[in-house]
Amino acid sequence: MTSKRVYIETYGCQMNVADSEIVGGILNERGFVITPTPDDADVLLVNTCAIRDNAEVRIYGRLGLFSTYKKSHPGVVVGVLGCMAERIRKDLLEEDVVDLVVGPDEYRTLPALIGRAMGGEKGIAVRLSRVENYGDIVPLRTDGVCAWISVMRGCDKFCSFCVVPFTRGRERSRTLESVVEEVTNLSVRGFREVTLLGQNVNSYHDGRNDFAELMRAVARVDRSMRVRFTTSHPQDMSDRLIEAIASEENLCPSIHLPVQSGSDRILALMERTYTVDHYRRLVEKVRQAIPGAGLSTDIISGFPSETEAEHRMTVDLVRELRFDGAYTFKYSPREKTKAWELPDDVPEEEKGRRVWEVTELQHTISLELNAALVGSTARILVEGPSRKSKHDFTGRTAGNKTVVFPRRDEQPGDELDVRIERATSATLLGVRAADPIRPASPSIKESAA
Ligand code: SAH
Ligand code: SF4
Ligand code: F3S
Repeated sequence: MTSKRVYIETYGCQMNVADSEIVGGILNERGFVITPTPDDADVLLVNTCAIRDNAEVRIYGRLGLFSTYKKSHPGVVVGVLGCMAERIRKDLLEEDVVDLVVGPDEYRTLPALIGRAMGGEKGIAVRLSRVENYGDIVPLRTDGVCAWISVMRGCDKFCSFCVVPFTRGRERSRTLESVVEEVTNLSVRGFREVTLLGQNVNSYHDGRNDFAELMRAVARVDRSMRVRFTTSHPQDMSDRLIEAIASEENLCPSIHLPVQSGSDRILALMERTYTVDHYRRLVEKVRQAIPGAGLSTDIISGFPSETEAEHRMTVDLVRELRFDGAYTFKYSPREKTKAWELPDDVPEEEKGRRVWEVTELQHTISLELNAALVGSTARILVEGPSRKSKHDFTGRTAGNKTVVFPRRDEQPGDELDVRIERATSATLLGVRAADPIRPASPSIKESAA
């Protein structure tokens, strides 16, 4: 029998990207082949996101296209994975096009369920687990510069607006040893940067080690490898973690720390467990301990009952704290969450205006911060061709700023000093200031080890 070909399409956060690699690992182990395009696939999987309504609308659109595709390719199996599978469950199976619905903790069942679906039997597996962490699965990754590793799953925070605790279940962490082993393998394969992932990654605890210990252990694996993490909840941003980032040279000084709102009343309604002042002091502490730290945030506009005055507090906080970047969202009510019970009373248009105002302000600030770097030299890790031109390459600074430069002979994985000549709110543009620093090739490293 020839190997069945599986195409996986991924939506949502980095955790979903990492999960798709885990799914790839599980299927590959069982003789399936992962294909990069849907055209010749026997199985189409969409790994979905449920965080906001528009994420789900987009996926229904995709399923519509898959449905057309299936008419011309009878026998193709279509599976919905991820957070939307977990949230909507068996109702998704009512869609003609869908053969499989598999939640984030049930990916080990996929080979068997796909087998049965090929025989015409629809299947569903959506149990959440208290222990599943896929620590023993080798994710299927293409060789590259940056890798993402899930180190914990789930979330116990239950912020009142958020569906994640319902789609991903309770928090659980992999052992430090299994993470270190994976990072060691990635280093040998030539990866130059790892990002440790979790929805609430700094509450990582494997029974013996906390997140600061994990970060230090990962940093020690290969000092020439950069280490990042995302996402952190302000409440779990410990002094020990800040110290670790300040003192270990290859832990990148870049922190994503979602604040959500600048109003204490709204933060309390969101059940975020901190006040604006607590957050402000945390930012001061981070900036004092880690000079030049890149700081980014998330903001929700139009949470139930948010007044204009409270919106202004968010705007003022953004102006005061001068983040390097911010992801901004209109509040979207999610079933099962506590906020679902509150009237969604900020009109859509008003939410749009508020989110626009925050976004515009952040753009101005990002541009000012980037423009101040013109004339300086930045050390970047080269990632590959820029999206806009194949003559340009892109890389990132340790503080997580994207830098684009005209390519000469640089290779992905090189470190390069670049003189910054121009800036936009999202990107720095520069020219090479010195010869690239090339890592020892993986094979050399391996034989030296
Ligand atoms: N675990 C992360 C957040 C993951 S979701 C953390 O706590 O930092 C990413 C972002 O989506 C959140 O920070 C929040 O700003 C936004 N978000 C989550 N639920 C939302 C909702 N119901 N409506 C609008 N934005 C939402
Ligand atoms: Fe959602 Fe809050 Fe958990 Fe983040 S910390 S995933 S916002 S419940
Ligand atoms: Fe979306 Fe699930 Fe991630 S809801 S943001 S894919 S954890």
